[in-house]
Amino acid sequence: MSPIKHFDAELIRADFPILHQQIHGQPLVYLDNAATTQKPQSVIDALVHYYSFDNANVHRGAHTLADRATASFEGARVKIQQFINAPHSHEVIWTRGTTESINLVAHSFLPRIAGKGDVVLVSAMEHHSNIVPWQLVAATLGAQVLPIPVTDAGDIDLIAYDKLFEQHQVKMVSVTWVSNALGTVNPIEAMTVTAHKAGAYVMIDAAQAVGHWTPDVQALDADFVAFSGHKMFAPTGVGVLWGREALLNAMPPFLGGGEMIETVSFAGTTFNQLPFKFEAGTPNIADVIGLGAAVDYLNQFDRQAMRDHEDGLLAAAHDWAKQQSGLRIIGEAGAKSGVLSFVLDGAHASDVGMLLDQQGVAVRTGNHCAQPIMAQFGVTGTVRASFSFYNTLDDVARLAAAVDKARTFL
Ligand code: ALA
Repeated sequence: MSPIKHFDAELIRADFPILHQQIHGQPLVYLDNAATTQKPQSVIDALVHYYSFDNANVHRGAHTLADRATASFEGARVKIQQFINAPHSHEVIWTRGTTESINLVAHSFLPRIAGKGDVVLVSAMEHHSNIVPWQLVAATLGAQVLPIPVTDAGDIDLIAYDKLFEQHQVKMVSVTWVSNALGTVNPIEAMTVTAHKAGAYVMIDAAQAVGHWTPDVQALDADFVAFSGHKMFAPTGVGVLWGREALLNAMPPFLGGGEMIETVSFAGTTFNQLPFKFEAGTPNIADVIGLGAAVDYLNQFDRQAMRDHEDGLLAAAHDWAKQQSGLRIIGEAGAKSGVLSFVLDGAHASDVGMLLDQQGVAVRTGNHCAQPIMAQFGVTGTVRASFSFYNTLDDVARLAAAVDKARTFL
């Protein structure tokens, strides 16, 4: 197995209570981090503290609890602003997750820039959440959503990407930074430069990236960036849309009601300023505060060191997988992060997943909400092991042993 740079994953594991349990009589090996990451005790404590001492609605109460809740809620927005190096905290919009962030941009932004015959580009490896929202809105505009081709290795075909701008009136490019199904790390900076040169806007789906590194939205230079809290060690049900201030200001609200209002009358309604214009109804206060706690947690560490550790785990898993006859790796891009997807000859992925679970090893099986790329690879689904910084080489060895044993039953 490949050497691993120094990183004390064992020490980190102590922060994650869920990891210390037995499943079917075996110590849990959690390799489903691309689906959701586990939560450190400090995030769990932040939720318990909020509900035990501070629970109140934000922005509107004239009492101490409301002040405390509002301070923590808005404090989390500033933490995210700093975390992603956003120019302004009001460019950080709370959503339920990446899916809602993309839907917001598709519904509120796309109609402003695209019309009949125009094109939205997404890559062929996108999650359905970065295909379907664009299709829904494009259909109302007479626009088309076209795929950026992906090579047999699982890389974006950059030559084909460039050609798409010669062939079509491309108005929007929305692409994932890291593929949840293949683990490919896409060259989003170069793709953004190409799109901007052609006058198109760019949205980055950073859902699978934030668990591994921190986006710097100014360095990325995209127009919108979306991610989910639960893939960066925070609770489910909270996510972020970052957008350029001028674009967000020019966009109409997505959902109506509550916090997004300035004045309402039957003669006409006016809307609140950013970020509240896009935050209708009582927000997910506790989980926003939990996301702030996750940022504090991550800020303690050198994320490059964490990533080096994860890259070592992935390299070890790949080394093992490549030596197995009857095992096909799905996705062997030049740059990958966190994901080993594979199929076993003659075995259904869900049967493999069940046999791994019986041995305490948690993986995801199926199409990973990415049917187009599964079809390109000629499979209906894969077994996906996905790594985080609290995984160890021992976890990789447990995966390998569990797959060996599973194959004796298949
Ligand atoms: N998109 C998540 C995954 O890939 C749920 O598992």
